[in-house]
Amino acid sequence: MKMYRILLVLLVITLAYSFAEALLDNNTQQRVDAICKQTIDTKFCQGVFAKKLATSSPSNKDLLNVTVTEAETFSAKTYFFISTLLRDAGDERSGLQKCAEAYEIVNTAFTEVVSFFNQGLYGEILKLTGKVSYGVGICKTDFNVPGYHINPMIEKNRETKVLVAMEQIIGHMISS
Ligand SMILES: *[C@@H]1O[C@H](CO)[C@@H](O)[C@H](O)[C@H]1NC(C)=O
Ligand SMILES: *[C@@H]1O[C@H](CO)[C@@H](O)[C@H](O)[C@H]1NC(C)=O
Repeated sequence: MKMYRILLVLLVITLAYSFAEALLDNNTQQRVDAICKQTIDTKFCQGVFAKKLATSSPSNKDLLNVTVTEAETFSAKTYFFISTLLRDAGDERSGLQKCAEAYEIVNTAFTEVVSFFNQGLYGEILKLTGKVSYGVGICKTDFNVPGYHINPMIEKNRETKVLVAMEQIIGHMISS
């Protein structure tokens, strides 16, 4: 009986995943792939759309909406994540403190992007992406983080760069 229930749960999970995959129509999937292949982490980029798109045939504006919303959430979470790391950081405080400073800039810019998006000011979004890239550059990753083999900020920085690239690519598609 127990086995049966486990199988049932697995089946439900599998079905949920296949529905999630089937969510995007062909045209959308092609558009998403074309956007994501221009970023440095195609999989992460595709994952954002797969998880967050609410419709199977989104407009470019819908794609941008998902991207700016995700970027803001992601940078706020990353800032919080750094502040939890700082609590246990002994000698390596200075590297992490720089990253906290960096993500304050990144999060402020991503928050401004959301506000410009809501006002339909897509050109302004493109101007802000430079501020994000500058912010990420402040967070160097050549220090150790207690409890991690690999500095987790390497991944966070990469994902931030993908999100800002997504904003640039879709922003250009909309404003041209
Ligand atoms: C979507 O593409 C697949 C192959 O890439 C094709 O088999 C399928 O018929 C297409 N569906 C639609 C609705 O165009
Ligand atoms: C953006 O998406 C949210 C839902 O996630 C929706 O409520 C909002 O109306 C959308 N904004 C625009 C401008 O499309």
